[in-house]
Order: sequence, then C-alpha cells, then structure tokens
Amino acid sequence: MARIVQPDDLGIAAAVDALRRGELIGLPTETVYGLAADATSDAAVQRVFSVKGRPATHPLIVHIADADGLETFTKQLTPNLRALADAFWPGPLTMIVRANQSVSRRVTGGRDTVAVRCPSHSVAHAVIRRLGHAIAAPSANRFGAVSPTTAQHVVADLGADIDIVLDGGECHVGVESTIVDCTSNDVVLLRPGAVTAEQIDAVLRADDHPQAPRVTDGTASESRAPGMLQSHYAPRARLVLHESGDHVDAGSAPVLDFSGDLHDAAQRLYRDLRQLDADGVALAHIVLPPPGGLGQAIRDRLTKAAAGR
Ligand code: TXA
Ligand code: MG
Repeated sequence: MARIVQPDDLGIAAAVDALRRGELIGLPTETVYGLAADATSDAAVQRVFSVKGRPATHPLIVHIADADGLETFTKQLTPNLRALADAFWPGPLTMIVRANQSVSRRVTGGRDTVAVRCPSHSVAHAVIRRLGHAIAAPSANRFGAVSPTTAQHVVADLGADIDIVLDGGECHVGVESTIVDCTSNDVVLLRPGAVTAEQIDAVLRADDHPQAPRVTDGTASESRAPGMLQSHYAPRARLVLHESGDHVDAGSAPVLDFSGDLHDAAQRLYRDLRQLDADGVALAHIVLPPPGGLGQAIRDRLTKAAAGR
C-alpha cells in the first residue's frame, strides 16, 4: 500500500529514487495530482498505462521544470509557443507541439506531436529538477474516474500500485490544465482550464504577428485529443445538471451548487464529486456556473461527469 510522504528533502529524494528505479509516484501539481513516471523510461511509461487502465493510444503530458526544457521536445519554437510560455508558464497550460524524433512514441500514443506542460507547484518542480529530466504524468485516477485533488484521493484509487505519494495538500486550481494545440498558426483549444480562452487570445493578439493568430474551439473534436469526450471525470452517482439554482426540485437528493465564486467552485469540484460516492449517493443535482472564464472548464467537466449515466 502506498505511503503518504511529506515533500521535504528526504521525501523528495525517496520519490526520485523510486522514479529512477522505474516505479511510479503520486505527485501534487497546482491542478490535480499526477501519476508520475520518468518520461525517458519506456518501461515506466508503459506501467502508467497499465496501472491507469488507459488505452495505449491516449497520449500523456510531459512535465518540465522550465521553458528551456521545451527544446528537448520540439525543434519548432514558434512565436506562439514563446509568447504563451512567457505568459503562462509555470502554470496550468499544456501545449501540443511537433515532437522531435527522440521523443518516446509510447508517451505520445504513437503521434508525431507531444503535450508539454511546466507546472507551477514547488513539489513538482523539485522532483523534476532532482530527477534531471522530464516526467510523464496523467491525472492519478483510474481511467474515466474523477481526478484526485488530495494525496488521500490518490491512495484511495491507486494505492495498491504505487509506493509513494508526495503530500502537497489540496490542489490549488482543482481542474486539469488547459490544453491548446500549437502545431499550426491558429491555436486550438482542446481542453478548457484555469488559463482561459480569453487570456490566451489576449496574449496572441498582443504579439505583433503578421497574421494575428486566434484561438479556435476544438473541444468537440475527439480525434485531436483522444479520451476527452463522452463520459469522463465521472462519479458513480447520476448527476442532473441545472443552469440555475432557482427551480431545483431535488426532493431528498443533494444539490451541489457551483454557480458562486469560480475559483472556489473549481477547487472543490472533484472533492465534492468524490464525496457523493463516499456517501453512497445515487442521484445528485448540480447547479452549473455561467460559461465565461473558468466557468467553461467547470461546465466541461460536469457535462462529462453527467454523460451516459
Ligand atoms: O493538469 C493536468 O494536465 C494534469 C496534471 C497531472 O498535470 N494531467 C492530466 O493528464 O490531466 P491526463 O493524461 O489526465 O490528460 C491528458 C490529456 C489527454 O486527454 C490526452 O488526450 C491529451 O492530454 N493529450 C496528450 N498528448 C496529446 C497529443 N499529442 N495530442 C492531443 N492530445 C494530447
Ligand atoms: Mg485525466
């Protein structure tokens, strides 16, 4: 069973030793906890897929300690990439770039593109720096289940398959990073997150580019980011979504209201969904936030959590 370890010097050293042996660890980031492997070890990366129960064609995100690390993964350091890395890294933005030959096709699910992110969490940083190269880390939940935002969530899901979970407390953001496809001049939003489409658009426009790039919405295209559509992030409870809390006739079923402060709503989203299952709730009513800003990410996750139940 996994040990929850304090992220002091000793804890970080133990976690990095485990990664060097090809083992997986639970790692806090500012968004959600990751199931981390040494990105340069195909055997360790393979283990991520088997532990998560994830199809081999669903690519992983590589996590680097600073923007310089981007050159290891792509030769095409376009103006868009530089501008977005300057503006949002370290932070909850993942960029899909053209992959160098040297990038493991196990990590990319066989694709010629790779997802790169530079997290802002100090523990994630310390681990990547001490290891000396990138880690590959999907969210530390079983495939299709709710993402973890505490070390205890990771142990509850994957405790039998990993030895160490570094305890960084509750994740600050609470929903997974924004993913944008940066392989063409226009930047395509694949997964909404805490870095919003509005913020990305503002950065791209500030750059005096000959053809000012735009952010376009690709969130409905399964082929661009495999594994992001349909039922996902899902608790066992059936969820009924409402645009407003005014006329919810819930009877004895619980009502979770995410229409207030958006940062607070994102931070408690997965904790609240997990609590429904812990309480054995069969049906819950959900009040959605409005769609702007971080509301887009919260609505995206709740819509998928409610799908197909
Ligand atoms: O906040 C996050 O991004 C968290 C933390 C742990 O960093 N990680 C995370 O990873 O959410 P994961 O594996 O649960 O989600 C990664 C998503 C997948 O839906 C996958 O399809 C997409 O990223 N992805 C990765 N590489 C891609 C690529 N080359 N092209 C398109 N989509 C890609
Ligand atoms: Mg995930």
